[in-house]
Amino acid sequence: MTANPPHSDSTPELMIEARQLTRTFRTGGGPFKALKSVDFAVRRGEFVAITGPSGSGKSTLLHLLAGLDQPSGGELRFKGIRVDQDSARQWALRRRSQIGIVFQFFNLIDNLSVADNIEVPALLAGHRPRDARDRRTALLDALNLRDVANLAPARLSGGQQQRVALARALVNQPELLLADEPTGNLDSQAGREVMRVIREQRTPSQTIVIVTHDARVASQAGRVITMRDGRITGETEPGRDDEPRRTLTPIFDRERGGER
Ligand SMILES: Nc1ncnc2c1ncn2[C@@H]1O[C@H](COP(=O)(O)OP(=O)(O)OP(=O)(O)O)[C@@H](O)[C@H]1O
Ligand SMILES: [Mg+2]
Repeated sequence: MTANPPHSDSTPELMIEARQLTRTFRTGGGPFKALKSVDFAVRRGEFVAITGPSGSGKSTLLHLLAGLDQPSGGELRFKGIRVDQDSARQWALRRRSQIGIVFQFFNLIDNLSVADNIEVPALLAGHRPRDARDRRTALLDALNLRDVANLAPARLSGGQQQRVALARALVNQPELLLADEPTGNLDSQAGREVMRVIREQRTPSQTIVIVTHDARVASQAGRVITMRDGRITGETEPGRDDEPRRTLTPIFDRERGGER
């Protein structure tokens, strides 16, 4: 286990805890279990990658962590608090200030300029207009977007659009950054650039969960979780020499003496 990331005594160390989380979709052919009892925990300050074949349930899990979808069963905790039954409104408020999300296809608002796409979430989160403007300016500079600040997002390259999406996700300095294939639609150069920005903009206490097919992206994470058929089937720590471990024991259980 790596050293504990910095956190104050009043903040819980676990950012995310999922216990026996399930998601079953109703389909024409009957119920389909996209997630089958997922146990999963992420500490504050961790950088975790989720990988696995297409259809294994990665996006389904990420959507649950973001509150964009509700689990069919199991428990989900965010900073120690049960959130699996929370309303769409409670989640919207939580996402506004505490969770940043980046998707594969950018999801920018095309009738707003690049700069406004970044600034609006700061205003919605209740920051004073001057503060929101300062944050927008700082991110435009840091993410090398100053020259395109006044353009509509559709005029930008894919790599630029994803940097705008990242700036928008980071403008409220979220404790948790969730990304679903953030480099999946980019060439390798633009993908590297997006990952560089994620690393550079990261604060020590920020927690990152990235879903990715790209081994180079996953190798930058502190921990890589593998999914298959709706289950977590393994986890590795890149940069450590040990063999890939096959463990299904979530870290919170190890801490509590390994009882399940
Ligand atoms: N709304 C839905 N209704 C029915 N089935 C769904 C729905 N959303 C996802 N699924 C199914 O659940 C399974 C998991 O989907 P999910 O999108 O989580 O996979 P994924 O691991 O993200 O795959 P990919 O790498 O292709 O993005 C798939 O078989 C998918 O078809
Ligand atoms: Mg997916």
